[in-house]
Amino acid sequence: MLKNKKIGFVGGGNMAEAMIKGLLSAAFIKAKNLMVSDVVAERLEYLHREYKIRVTADNRELAKASDILVLAVKPQVMEDVLSGIGDLVDEGKLVISIAAGIHIQVIEDHLNLEGRKKVGVVRTMPNTPALVQEGVTALAVSAHVSKADLKVAHRIFEAIGKTVDVEESHLDAVTGLSGSGPAYIFMIIEALSDAGVKMGLSREVSNILTIQTVLGSARLALDSGKHPGELKDMVTSPGGTTISGLHTLEAGGLRTTLMNAVEEATKRSIWLGQNAKNEHTRKEK
Ligand SMILES: NC(=O)c1ccc[n+]([C@@H]2O[C@H](COP(=O)([O-])OP(=O)(O)OC[C@H]3O[C@@H](n4cnc5c(N)ncnc54)[C@H](OP(=O)(O)O)[C@@H]3O)[C@@H](O)[C@H]2O)c1
Repeated sequence: MLKNKKIGFVGGGNMAEAMIKGLLSAAFIKAKNLMVSDVVAERLEYLHREYKIRVTADNRELAKASDILVLAVKPQVMEDVLSGIGDLVDEGKLVISIAAGIHIQVIEDHLNLEGRKKVGVVRTMPNTPALVQEGVTALAVSAHVSKADLKVAHRIFEAIGKTVDVEESHLDAVTGLSGSGPAYIFMIIEALSDAGVKMGLSREVSNILTIQTVLGSARLALDSGKHPGELKDMVTSPGGTTISGLHTLEAGGLRTTLMNAVEEATKRSIWLGQNAKNEHTRKEK
């Protein structure tokens, strides 16, 4: 499906590299059909050396050469990047953004698509486990994305994990859940490992026990398809150790705290989406 397409990444940072690595290791595309543009020369040298892909310092050269453009720069520079390549994005091309908080409408406006409205724009929110091809990406589409283009977009993100479709209005919730979620889980991992150390285990043993418990539980939930409550009940014998631990988690408000965290992160995502440009200007002062 991707074999004859040329994919260009504007911005060759962490997320772009994760996607390139995933696409190449899944053999979804040949290295000669991948290109990256970036403002950092050493970054381009590294990506070329490591993955044998084409590189350029010129976003316009990349835009001309690509069928699919993946916008992988930070949200703060996105509007300038779009304005710089807009005239080269004609109707045959597909535009995919991974930038947090940049709305499809903003992308269309800054590409100045007036008269070429049929250019499809897919806005996505991946997460950092993409770096080990275990990410999850939510995709939202503009009115001009065909079924075939959406399939192509899914294929690209399947190289770094799982994919789901959402309405664009739900992307802030996605950001608050799976976008920020890895940080919540890392904090839980750190806390459980600390708890093991407090109970006398070495840090090394405690880390292995914790990380494999989180990984194994996620795998069991995924593979069994069972409700998490049912899986929890399977470990919870009457009068046993687990129910005592669960009681303490309830008393500490674990569920409410996690729900509040997702709610707050979602609100912050909405705010950042509305104030991204102002925030950038303020930081530069
Ligand atoms: N990392 C995540 O967890 C995550 C998750 C979901 C979505 N995202 C989104 O993914 C995007 C990329 O994130 P990242 O973590 O990969 O960022 P990153 O590592 O900073 O990569 C962005 C790259 O683009 C370069 N760049 C800056 N201005 C440019 C321009 N005008 N033209 C071409 N390249 C330019 C940057 O150079 P400089 O370093 O010199 O600026 C950097 O090398 C962001 O929009 C972010 O919101 C990230």
